[in-house]
Amino acid sequence: MSKSLNLFVGAIGGTALMLGLAYGISSRDYGEATISTLEARVQQIEANAAQASAEAQAAAAEAARLMQEREELQLAAASAGTSLTAPAPVIEGSYGLGRVALEEEIAAWDVDVLPDGRGLPEGRGDVYTGEEVFVDKCASCHGDFAEGVGNWPVLAGGFDTLANRDPVKTVGSYWPYLSTAWDYINRSMPFGEAGTLTPDETYAIVAYLLYSNNMVDDDFELSHENFTQVEMYNSDGFVVDDRPALEYAEWRTEPCMENCKEGVEITMRATFLDVTPDEVVDAAVTEPATDAAPVDVAADDAGGVDPALIAAGEGAFRQCQTCHQVGDGARNRTGPALHAMIGSTIGSVDGFRYSGVFEEANAAGEVWTAESLAAYLADPRGMMPGTRMAFRGVQDEAEITALIAYLESLGD
Ligand code: HEC
Ligand code: HEC
Repeated sequence: MSKSLNLFVGAIGGTALMLGLAYGISSRDYGEATISTLEARVQQIEANAAQASAEAQAAAAEAARLMQEREELQLAAASAGTSLTAPAPVIEGSYGLGRVALEEEIAAWDVDVLPDGRGLPEGRGDVYTGEEVFVDKCASCHGDFAEGVGNWPVLAGGFDTLANRDPVKTVGSYWPYLSTAWDYINRSMPFGEAGTLTPDETYAIVAYLLYSNNMVDDDFELSHENFTQVEMYNSDGFVVDDRPALEYAEWRTEPCMENCKEGVEITMRATFLDVTPDEVVDAAVTEPATDAAPVDVAADDAGGVDPALIAAGEGAFRQCQTCHQVGDGARNRTGPALHAMIGSTIGSVDGFRYSGVFEEANAAGEVWTAESLAAYLADPRGMMPGTRMAFRGVQDEAEITALIAYLESLGD
């Protein structure tokens, strides 16, 4: 309570001071206008004080409620024979740290739900309620119909895409067990407010997700009783890994070491995941240079660009090929077709839909320079925040120089 009183004093004290000032000033011979301005200010300050005192009262009430809650918890623990504030008892042969966990504490952690329904709390919820809760707590990210907003995960549909290159894996199309949906949502959603859903709300949401996936009718109610009867679309889509039994034995025989493939060629790069180790990138860069001179970045001051540098750039460009085509007949793919970029307006390749930041640079008539291009390749998102080039950047300066030399060699 004392805290909230202090707040009052501050606000009221301020008002009194201002009123005093206003009086002092008005009793001298100031113009009407000045006085009415002062009066208006005093009114404003009084309004602020009223608001501050209302807020302080609310805060005091909340503090009292929390104190009460804490006392209740301590009483409950005491009646179960535990003190939550007493120092940990020293257990013989131990270091005197910690205490035996309460059953309630263990129960609070023990929330996993298994495919056969073990771990499900009692409860129920229907599609209708689920829709309300979903719209309230989930739709801002996952969309009203679980279709996903922007890049947030899609939770419904995708049934005929599982065999595609880019399957749409949703709770409906992909997840083999309904228990995973219940468990995941219960533990981790809504994103940022995990653990706030009641069991009934979670049942209702899962019922609504089944409905959004056309797996149940709109009058469906999900409960701990009928939970395991729901058939999942992809329940047979996962197989037990039998390689230890069937394949590993094969591989354990003596390796033949004859007719081995010559050399190793990297054909794809996990640029999206950022998992291809950097050493391999370096190998790719220096590879073409081994039979020519080593890459010397400063070698081309005199005009003619070192062919080894261009070759190194071509090697390094493999990591860009997933998205960029170059040369005759190059087409826009994930990224625009590239050519010699230095001197050309940023974001000016015909027919490519650029991100906002690129469009702005284009509208401002900004032109790629050797410096800006190098900075972009080193850290695309750092230099062009919001760029759609989903690429981590090239760490090695020599590699960047080589890449630019290669692009320049392509001409316009
Ligand atoms: C603030 C945005 C946000 C809100 C609100 C939100 N989610 Fe999510 N949800 C996410 C993000 C982000 C992920 C991916 C998390 C990850 O991969 O670690 C996700 C993942 C999921 C997934 C797993 C999707 C998959 O296929 O992997 C489910 C199911 C899900 N959310 C359900 C819900 C439900 C139900 C609610 C409401 C109770 C909810 N979410 C509220 C952002 C949100
Ligand atoms: C994952 C796909 C992807 C990869 C990999 C990628 N880029 Fe890009 N790049 C893009 C996209 C998309 C844009 C358009 C940027 C925008 O609109 O925000 C772009 C833009 C560019 C531009 C500017 C084009 C213009 O018209 O102004 C250059 C230059 C460029 N990339 C070079 C490279 C180089 C060199 C590499 C390899 C080191 C590379 N990119 C790797 C997708 C990619």
